[in-house]
Amino acid sequence: MSKIFYYFSHFHLEKSIERSLKVENDSHYICNLSDLIRKYEDWKTYLPRVKPYYAVKCNDNINVLKLLAFIGCSFDCASAGEIEKILSLNVGPERIIFANTTKFAKHIEFAERHKVNLMTFDNEDELYKILKIYPNAKLILRIRYGSDKALYKLSEKFGSLPNTEAPELLKLAKRLKLNVVGISFHIGSRCEDYKVYCRAIAISRALFQFAADIGFKFKILDIGGGFPGDNFNRIKEFSIIINDALNRNFPLDEFPNLEIVSEPGRYFVESAFTLVTQIHSRKITRDANGKIVSVMYYLNEGIYSNFLFIPLGPEKVTPKILSHKRTNEKFKTTLWGPTLDSIDKICQNIELELLEIDDVIYFINMGAYTTTVGTNFNSFSAKTNIVYFLEKNIESNKLNTELFDFNFINDT
Ligand SMILES: Cc1ncc(COP(=O)(O)O)c(C=O)c1O
Repeated sequence: MSKIFYYFSHFHLEKSIERSLKVENDSHYICNLSDLIRKYEDWKTYLPRVKPYYAVKCNDNINVLKLLAFIGCSFDCASAGEIEKILSLNVGPERIIFANTTKFAKHIEFAERHKVNLMTFDNEDELYKILKIYPNAKLILRIRYGSDKALYKLSEKFGSLPNTEAPELLKLAKRLKLNVVGISFHIGSRCEDYKVYCRAIAISRALFQFAADIGFKFKILDIGGGFPGDNFNRIKEFSIIINDALNRNFPLDEFPNLEIVSEPGRYFVESAFTLVTQIHSRKITRDANGKIVSVMYYLNEGIYSNFLFIPLGPEKVTPKILSHKRTNEKFKTTLWGPTLDSIDKICQNIELELLEIDDVIYFINMGAYTTTVGTNFNSFSAKTNIVYFLEKNIESNKLNTELFDFNFINDT
């Protein structure tokens, strides 16, 4: 697998695609590592009280993980496999939260052996499981508080009801002498309904009080993930609302030692990845006079590889054409993936100019829940090569180039 690393003074997407096409003649990703660094720096600037634990499930690309580990990020892991991956990067167990409320027993054993002691729970049976395997673990109670407006809702499956189940679970944990240290929630993935963070933070504050009343000393508030990660710089907006809720409910002078953590996945990686595809086949439908009615293009990527999120949710993609043909005429167009399944449809009834076989279509904001979920259906490979870019600047110069898994090519 070729992995090339270019330095540009300034990242320019279409120029980078043209560059990558010289080394990749199949579909591939462009990954702008500088975008990741910028996201991390922005997080520290705009949410200074909140420590991010990157949700590995979102994109477990080894170079992304190495870069985030290198610049100081912590990690949210969902399984023993993810924990193992992060520990192998020489990240200490104290930088990991095992944020899965329903864990395999053998994964708890793995966490215990490797001293990953921070983990979430949301039900009675999990408490008894943890009591048996890892009674000294530091536990975070996940409450159910989600937004109907989140693109991917999580609260049907996870979380305890804050007014009824959560207090009972805290009482049970107390009786079992387990060490509960805080509250977490996840309002749902890709959520722009930022006010929901405020309500969830206020509810968490009430549970902090309840916990104190029954003898717990809570130290951690975990505000989960869900933050949008596209390239519209939305952190400026959501940080104002979140900081305000934190300062109102958990003022620094009253909670000087509180650790506020979060589990952002898509925030970090979504905009760093662009998927570059090619048209490998085309079918034109014409009317009786030979006039084009509609066009179907078949791409070398589809829902069984990097677009699985399309049939799973309401998210849409906007295809972009690398070299426009300078014609104003547009046609009703459908984009298909390469497999023999008719649900393998990327988008339909969009208006596009007439394109040719081998033309390049690219998709921005493709870093979240894409590379981790592909299959090899019809033996089309789910493994998509990646070409990495890094802007040459003071931050990137600090990176230890030996750390990464690619050949370095200077291209200034
Ligand atoms: C427990 C937990 N934490 C964090 C995340 C990351 O969410 P997002 O990528 O929306 O930030 C998820 C996503 O499913 C999750 O289930």
